[in-house]
Amino acid sequence: MPIALVTGARRGIGLAIAQALEREGYTVVYAARSAEGPDCAAHYIPCDISLKADREHLLAKVLKQFGEIHLLINNAGIAPPERMDVLATTEANYDAVLDVNLRGTFFMCQLFANQMIKQGGQGCRIINIASLSSDTVSVNRGEYCISKAGVSMVTALFAARLAEYGIGVFEVRPGIIRTDMTAAVQARYEAMIADGLTPIKRMGSPEEVADCVLTAASGRLDFATGQVIHADGGFHLRRL
Ligand code: NAI
Repeated sequence: MPIALVTGARRGIGLAIAQALEREGYTVVYAARSAEGPDCAAHYIPCDISLKADREHLLAKVLKQFGEIHLLINNAGIAPPERMDVLATTEANYDAVLDVNLRGTFFMCQLFANQMIKQGGQGCRIINIASLSSDTVSVNRGEYCISKAGVSMVTALFAARLAEYGIGVFEVRPGIIRTDMTAAVQARYEAMIADGLTPIKRMGSPEEVADCVLTAASGRLDFATGQVIHADGGFHLRRL
């Protein structure tokens, strides 16, 4: 049975991905920062992906319990502790976001890619959850945009580097999804969507993002390694 690891799986998009993978027959290890996992998780390992020791502990525990890893979903991510204009934001705000979203994701890819190579690579895949912010400017959360643009490059780098081992690397780029992360700005986003922001006139659900992840995880996109899947209701389409 394939073994999958989902970071940030305590709630929101990560939880939906983990549950969808379980329904597909994966054995899923849930990871997130809090001490306790969600009730549904049979296998939960606390891990702050920004910390090297936590990442190494996570891999060691997965290998001890299951011997191998086949699928890594880098979903853990944070919004800026404070939404601040790029003219005013602080180094603390910047570092907090970059440490988790970009440095954490990069070194998770590196650590697990090396393990997958040791296993021979075949049947292994990595999927990174980026954001429409990878290529959309929001001047009141610039550090988040920078971190997600970086995640998109991480995906491209590892897709190129791991191709020779048969390891596919993909990016799922969610648009505006109904989760705790967007709860505070939901009314504003809904008004913008009603006004035509997205061709599909509603927010997305975590399950719809999970469906895109399942497609990339299935192996059916392997020749399209490095592909970006826009789970965004058509937001990325340039319109006139
Ligand atoms: P959320 O805030 O509801 O859940 C985030 C999860 O990540 C939680 O389980 C939390 O424990 C975990 N987490 C946070 N920091 C962590 C760390 N340092 N180490 C390990 N786990 C950590 O967020 P949501 O909305 O489910 O977002 C999931 C991913 O999707 C994030 O990477 C986010 O940037 C991205 N995304 C979300 C969008 C949305 O509209 N909600 C849109 C585009 C991207």
